[in-house]
Amino acid sequence: MQELKITRPDDWHLHLRDGDALKAVLPHTVRQFARAIVMPNLKPPVRTVDDARAYRDRIIAAIPEGKKFEPLMTLYLTDNTTPEEIIAAKAAQFVKAVKYYPAGATTNSEFGVTDISRCDRVFEAMQKEGMPLLLHGEVRDQAVDVFDREKVFIEQYLIPLRTKFPELRIVLEHITTADSVQFVLDTPNIAATITPQHLLFNRNEIFKGGIRPHFYCLPILKREQHRQALITAATSGNPKFFLGTDSAPHSRDHKENSCGCAGCFSALHAIELYAEAFASVNALDKLEAFASFYGADFYQLPRNTEQITLTKSTWQIPDQVSFPESELVPLWAGQELKWRYIEN
Ligand code: NCD
Ligand code: ZN
Repeated sequence: MQELKITRPDDWHLHLRDGDALKAVLPHTVRQFARAIVMPNLKPPVRTVDDARAYRDRIIAAIPEGKKFEPLMTLYLTDNTTPEEIIAAKAAQFVKAVKYYPAGATTNSEFGVTDISRCDRVFEAMQKEGMPLLLHGEVRDQAVDVFDREKVFIEQYLIPLRTKFPELRIVLEHITTADSVQFVLDTPNIAATITPQHLLFNRNEIFKGGIRPHFYCLPILKREQHRQALITAATSGNPKFFLGTDSAPHSRDHKENSCGCAGCFSALHAIELYAEAFASVNALDKLEAFASFYGADFYQLPRNTEQITLTKSTWQIPDQVSFPESELVPLWAGQELKWRYIEN
């Protein structure tokens, strides 16, 4: 096979930032994807429908001329989010989900939820309105081993939440473990996004010959057995698993730092990275549904109709791309990839 044609994909988990950073990264996503679920962890976060409308306007203004792209907005859940805001979000139509970050768990999460039980009235409204809840599924308890925080989140928070709100539609974002795969498979009304880094690498990658900050993201890469479970899930053809890059740009100086930020930048070459992962297990025939169908189906949106083309030709991921006052190092910079996306 020399050419792969698939329906244009969507990115169901993306960080676009704001201001000049937004202007720098958005064109990369627009080049490959038709739509994206845009994360609300700005500073301050996108907490209300009005915040989301204003942020959406800024994103639309930053779309390169002549290009089409639809930002799908999310609200950042806090201890103070009201059921009324959920009703307003549903009515506004451009808000597609609400994002839960445990306070202090990751980048710009200081406004997140301190106690999930405070959100019951909001979850009730979301269940009733059919508003999906997107979970950063990690406990923030520093006493819990960093490699176990996703598993413990499921046990301590997600199972009780599922029992209390059985009809609430949930996406467990950027899953990293075999335990999460199994939980999603066994539980109704829950789906999961999977990032390219969690499909391609295990945790050894962070420590190969020295510390490699560009492979550091949250949730952190896990053991090989978990990576294999994710590959199996992504290529299984099960609609509960779909593409979400979690492309999370941080400038080089913020990554290569004595306390480096979490996040991998993959918007530049996202579909090629997924193609590499799927090709590694001979499952390129499963890429289209994972990248372009199942996410749209979960969000009850129409599937895209336009096609994109990937050609089999070796190319090298650049060492850096431009970013305000610094640069961004793309995930797996310098690596040769076998598949290349050709812009129409
Ligand atoms: C994200 C970011 O930088 O915004 N970082 C990451 O490692 N994924 C935040 C997040 O989604 O945890
Ligand atoms: Zn994220």
